[in-house]
Order: sequence, then C-alpha cells, then structure tokens
Amino acid sequence: MYYIGVDLGTSAVKLLLMEGNGKIANIVSKEYPLYFPNVGWSEQKPEDWWEAVLAGLKELTEGFDKSKVAGISFGGQMHGLVILDSEDNVIRPAILWNDGRTQKETDYLNNVIGKDKLSKYTANIAFTGFTAPKILWVKNNEPENFARINKIMLPKDYIAYKLSGSFCTDFSDASGMLLLDVEHKCWSEEMLEICGVKKEQMPKLYESYEAVGTLKEDIAAQLGLSATVKIAAGAGDNAAAAIGTGTVGDAMCNISLGTSGTIFISSDKFGVDKNNALHSFAHANGKYHLMGCMLSAASCNKWFMEEILQTKEFAKEQAAITDDMLGNNHVYFLPYLMGERSPHNDANARGTLIGMTMDTSRADIYQAVLEGVAFAIRDSFEVAKSLGIDIKASKICGGGAKSPLWKKIFANVLNIRLDIIESEEGPGYGGAILAAVACGEYATVEEAADKLVKVIDSVEPDAELAARYEERYGRFKQIYPTVKELFPRL
Ligand code: XUL
Repeated sequence: MYYIGVDLGTSAVKLLLMEGNGKIANIVSKEYPLYFPNVGWSEQKPEDWWEAVLAGLKELTEGFDKSKVAGISFGGQMHGLVILDSEDNVIRPAILWNDGRTQKETDYLNNVIGKDKLSKYTANIAFTGFTAPKILWVKNNEPENFARINKIMLPKDYIAYKLSGSFCTDFSDASGMLLLDVEHKCWSEEMLEICGVKKEQMPKLYESYEAVGTLKEDIAAQLGLSATVKIAAGAGDNAAAAIGTGTVGDAMCNISLGTSGTIFISSDKFGVDKNNALHSFAHANGKYHLMGCMLSAASCNKWFMEEILQTKEFAKEQAAITDDMLGNNHVYFLPYLMGERSPHNDANARGTLIGMTMDTSRADIYQAVLEGVAFAIRDSFEVAKSLGIDIKASKICGGGAKSPLWKKIFANVLNIRLDIIESEEGPGYGGAILAAVACGEYATVEEAADKLVKVIDSVEPDAELAARYEERYGRFKQIYPTVKELFPRL
C-alpha cells in the first residue's frame, strides 16, 4: 500500500508518496506566496495551501496505482491562526508562526495574566508567534472578524478538514496554541476564557497517528483516489520531522533546518523548562518533547544568497568557504530577521552583521550567516544542557541539512555527532509514517520509526575546530545582550 505525507511548509507544500516498506516512491513540491503586509507580519492564504495540496496530490499519484493509496497525513507549519465563519469561509489570511504583530497581547498574557498561571494552564508561556495571542489580536484589532469566528484551526487542520470534513487537530500541534493543557491533553478552560473562545469553536483533539475520517466522496473522485483513504490527524511539522528522523526515545534529539530552525528533544515523560525558554509540547508518538525554535534558519541562507548576493549558486558560494576559514571568522551575524523566539522571546530583535574590516571578504560574511544560525541553535542547546539533558548526538533534517559545509559547522559549534538520515524529508516522511500507523501497517509509531528510518552517515566534530568554535560562541553570545536595547529604536 501507499501512504502520503503532506509537509505543509512556509515556502511550499511537499508531498511524499511512501510504500509500506518505507521506500519513497515520489516527491512533489508546490510553492505558494508568503505575504509580509507590515513590518514583522507574516501571512498566507489557506486557499493557496488547499489549491497547492490538491494539485500536488494529483501530480504525486500520477502514474501510480491509485487504488493502493491507503492513508494521508501531515506535518504542518505550527501556530498559524486559521479562522472560518459559519459557512466555512476563511475569514482572513492565516497569521503565521513567524508573525510578530502580537507583542502587546503577548505582554498582556505574560505580565497581566502572568507566566506562572500560563505555565500552570498550558506548560508554556506566551510567544508572539503562538496562536492564543493572535486570537486576542484579532479580538482587539478586527472585532468584526472576531465576531464571525465559527471554527479555529491550525494550518494542516484546514487541509484535513477540506479533505475529510473532520474538524480536528492533534496534541503536538495543539500544544503550540497556548490553549492546550499539554500535560493532561485537553483544552484549558481557563485559556479559552482568557481568549474569549468557546470549546465548540475548537477542533476535536486526536493523537497524531489516529484516523480522523476518510476522504470526502467528491474529493476522492476529483483525485481519482478511493473514498476509503484514511486521513490521520498528523502533527506539527517539528513533531512530524522527529518521527521522520526516528527521534522517539528519551532524550533523543533532532535539529531541523527549514525556514525556522528547531532543536527537538523527545521525552517519554511530561516535563517543563522552569524558565520556559524551551517549549514543552506533546509529541506525535503519544509522549512529549521540549523544543527551542529560532524563527529564521535556512531562510537566512536563502535571504543572504538570493536577496543580498543575488545568486542561487549555493554550492559555488559555499565552496569559497574553505576548511581553514572555519572557526576563524571575525564577522558575526545575529540571525534575527523576523525577531527571535527561543531563547530570547524578542519580536524586536533584528538581523545584525558585526565585526567587518577592510579585508573582510564576501565568503567571510556568508560564513558568518551560516555560523550565526548554528550559534543561535546552540543558545537553545545550552538551555537544554542547563536542564540536565545530556545530548550526545542529533539527527538533522530540512533543506539546510543538504549542505555538507553547514552540517560540519553545526557538528562543531554544538560539539556533537550529527546522524544523517537516508532522506532529509523530515515532516513529509513523518506524516507518511503517521498515515501508515493509522492504517494499521505498523502497530505503533515507535515500531514504524524503528523499522523505516535509517542512519546512513554521521558527521563527527573535530576536537580542535570545536574548541575554536567554543571560543567564537563565547563572543557571539555577548552580542545580543549588548545591542538589544537598540533594536526597538531602529
Ligand atoms: C515551531 C515553529 C516553526 C514552524 C515552522 O514552534 O514555529 O518551526 O512550525 O513551520
């Protein structure tokens, strides 16, 4: 049988067709626009996602035996607010995970309601990208839209709804709404009240690997698929990526280098970072995880190459960064192009290049961009270490994981081994695995991950280079506290 994983990302949706034995039969990608209607705002149209998913599903299954498609599931960009009216019309464009407009609402939640209460209700505090502050923003700024809300959902849930008619979400993705009592896996009555939301407006909660329904007859006919195809709830993209890289045991780690950059630590038990610098969320295998999320990771690379250097020749530009240059750069880059989430929680933070001299080269600056992203992930890695979590190795996935140079920088900045998986398609592969579990091809997510995910290579840190990066990281971490007061004035 075939299982489809839909990775609903920020720059594109990637669809992956997996055979029951884990072999990837086909991959299709469809882009859609991203809108920045104001400084720090970030929106997409759910209708664009739907159109891309429909076209993608058609293309993905073209030439394959469609009667063998048994299940579809998702890894979706997290936290985005999708609101529908009573006729199921999308009320306004989705406000995305990297949108920073809600500083006022976030401050209200953290300072007036209070971090202690938020943490008690949800295991997390408010960040500008989380869903609850966005609901408050719509309430405060677009009361006419707020009054029309009939259904609140997350990006991938909109696709599940369109495909199956089931108004549902899963625990991993719901964790990022700041409306879920993560420990007890139910909506927090207190948080719903604080946001002025009723339970009927919220989706039904499922485990990621549970079936929420089957394909609607008309959609099945349109796609040439059977109406018995099961739709599984799916997961937030980071939890799905963790499944896709086999990050399912206690204290296992996955680094995802997509538009965002995340460090994901799976755990068999519920736990909270007492400083709330790391998110405490449910995992897609029914357990839990801690996660640090930086808002601009591979997107810094794309921005620097395409907007600043005006080139798409990534390999050529990276070839100019020779081994002897690593760990010796005097230029530093703060990768806060969309503000920053973990660990600074500062929507005003901005990208910063510092340390240039007359002999600074194009390659030095590009190197600083790649290193800055690795140093920023190290910030969250340090928080995990301070909680007593001993991370000896990590998986790595996402578009950024295609670059051997960047992987080498990461292994040495973090001073850990990086395990490379056969496919770096984390969320899409994880989504397909969740569909396979929902269809009974595998008994558990753990069994599927164990049988299907293969480590094919490793990047070991080099002691001397890691020591040089240790010194550089010591300098990097002084820059943000020194310049942060300036950011709101820029
Ligand atoms: C995680 C987060 C991002 C998005 C990217 O908290 O905001 O990783 O899920 O799609």
